[in-house]
Amino acid sequence: MKHKYISSKMKKGKPIINDRFLSRHVPETRWYHASTLNMMLRNFPVLYIKPDNGSAGTGIIRVKRLNRSQSLISYKTTSKVCSNRNIVFEVVKRMRRGKKYIIQQGISLATYRNKPFDLRIVLQKPSNRWSLTWMSAKVAPRSNSIVTNVAKGARDARIKEILRGADQPLHVSRVLWTLSDVSYKIARKLGSRFSFRILGLDMGIDKRGKVWFIEANTKPNFHGLKKLDPIQYRRYLQAKRRIEASR
Ligand SMILES: Nc1ncnc2c1ncn2[C@@H]1O[C@H](COP(=O)(O)OP(=O)(O)O)[C@@H](O)[C@H]1O
Ligand SMILES: [Mg+2]
Repeated sequence: MKHKYISSKMKKGKPIINDRFLSRHVPETRWYHASTLNMMLRNFPVLYIKPDNGSAGTGIIRVKRLNRSQSLISYKTTSKVCSNRNIVFEVVKRMRRGKKYIIQQGISLATYRNKPFDLRIVLQKPSNRWSLTWMSAKVAPRSNSIVTNVAKGARDARIKEILRGADQPLHVSRVLWTLSDVSYKIARKLGSRFSFRILGLDMGIDKRGKVWFIEANTKPNFHGLKKLDPIQYRRYLQAKRRIEASR
C-alpha cells in the first residue's frame, strides 16, 4: 500500500471531527464564511483562520475578542485593534484571493517561559499496525507569536523538558499518556479512511492541561531532528525503511 499525501486540513480533519471520542479533542472547525466568523466570534474568545491547503504557519490570521465592540487581529508578526463591525473586512484584507480558508476555535496554548508551545507527534505504519515513533515540542520564538512552526522561528525541544518546565502546572505523566492515546486513535481513524503510512500530528496542550488536535501532516519534516533526539530518530528511520521495503 502506497502512502498518500493530502493537503486539505478539512479533508483530513473531518473523520476526527465526526468521531464521538476524538471530537472532544478537536477545536470547533468550519469552512470560513463571513457569517461563520461573526457567529464564532460571539462563541469563542479566540479564532484561528487558516488556508485549507496551508503549511509552515503561512497565511494564518488570529482574531482575539477584546470586548463587545473590539477585537485584536494578528497576522504574521503584527497586531491591530479593530472594531467588531469591521472584522470581516479586516480579515478578508489579509486573505489570499482564490484560497479556501477554515475557521477554528482558538486554543489557549500552554506556555514555556511565556512562549506558547505545541507538540509534534509522529506515527508510522510499517506493518499493519501504527507505531508512535517520535514526540517533541515546538516552542514559539516570542510570547505574542500566533504560530509555533519551526519555519516561523519556533525551536524544537525535548517534550518532557517543556512539559515539566511549563508555566502552568501540568500533570506530566497524565498529559503524555493522553497524548499517546489520542494520537494512536487519530492515526487509526485516519488510517482507516486514507492510505497513510506516516502522520505528523500537531497537538496542543491548553493552559489547563487538556490535549487538543491541531492538524495532521502527511509529509512530516524531520529536518534537524536527529540531533535533538538520536534514539527517537533511529526509531523513525527504522520504521521508514520498513515502509520503503514493503512497497
Ligand atoms: N486552533 C488553534 N488554536 C491555537 N493555536 C493554533 C490553532 N490552529 C493553529 N494554531 C497554531 O498555528 C500553528 C500552525 O497551524 P497549523 O494548523 O498546524 O497549520 P500549518 O499547516 O500552517 O502548520 C500551530 O502549530 C499552532 O501553533
Ligand atoms: Mg502545522
